[in-house]
Amino acid sequence: MSVVARGRGQRKLCDIRGAGSGGRWCERGCGQSRSVFEISVFENFGRAMRAPAALQTAIPMEVIIRDSAEAGCVLGAKILASVIREKPAAVIGLATGRTPLRLYQELIRLHREDGLDFSQVTTFNLDEYVGLAGTHGQSYRYFMQENLFRHINIDLTRTHVPNGIASDLHVECRAYEEKIIAAGGIDLQLLGLGRNGHIGFNEPTGSLRSRTWIKILSEQTLRDNSDVFGSMDLMPKHALTMGVGTILDARRCLLLAFGPAKVRAVEHMVEGPLAAICPGSALQLHPRATVILDENSAAGLRYADHYRWIDRNKFAWQRHG
Ligand code: F6R
Repeated sequence: MSVVARGRGQRKLCDIRGAGSGGRWCERGCGQSRSVFEISVFENFGRAMRAPAALQTAIPMEVIIRDSAEAGCVLGAKILASVIREKPAAVIGLATGRTPLRLYQELIRLHREDGLDFSQVTTFNLDEYVGLAGTHGQSYRYFMQENLFRHINIDLTRTHVPNGIASDLHVECRAYEEKIIAAGGIDLQLLGLGRNGHIGFNEPTGSLRSRTWIKILSEQTLRDNSDVFGSMDLMPKHALTMGVGTILDARRCLLLAFGPAKVRAVEHMVEGPLAAICPGSALQLHPRATVILDENSAAGLRYADHYRWIDRNKFAWQRHG
């Protein structure tokens, strides 16, 4: 078991924001330094994928609170669309579940009404249930097909979801990592947050450096997701998921969490210590993570007013619109 902690006070960031630059880690010269823990973890995450530029331009977690999940999803879609417009061949990491559904509807609208072009986009989904073929109604491949892919002009050969029925799941996991690297890494990873703080299917106490692998789902996750299967007994107990380390390698992370059921997880992810009991808290280490909440999920945040203040006072170049 690896349990690590870092209080806010230990986070020694030098915020030297200036127009066009974003905030920066203070590598030297300002008298502040990162803790030994931060240095060792940060340096070790995603050696293979890490772009030096991303290391040099790390900004604090961006927390955006909107009145409703609807408004949050529209904003999330706008951010994702801007990445694709800026880089038509972008590599996008996708999530399933209830949270991103409205965001996907908005992407479909942007495609139909605003010409958002997915023809060169490559996607990698976070996870898939072990034992479910892509044709199974509850598989995540099927979810993506029904809720996004069949409504946009994406080339299906560029869409990737782990294969939950691969004959060798270990080989499948390693190959998934290799495909992400071969595609040039993920430009933006979309994430939801489990009630227990999981991201992807990385359940509490798993390694914060994990790579794509086979995970055993927690009882909480089984309870939360079993409704669509009819009962917990009919639901797969295992999944293939990108690891926390894989997720942290993405150049940007965009996490959405809405509703009162996510209050505790959000509180821990944003303001709690960095700890494997809340895998989402690993985003505190990410150089460019944006978290979009609604008033319900943000209700437990001690610094909610501070995040609203920051949001209101952003420079024009920092705004998402
Ligand atoms: C889904 C995934 C999960 C969900 C999380 C929240 O691909 O990776 O981490 O994002 O379980 O699920 P919902 O959105 O249904 O509350």
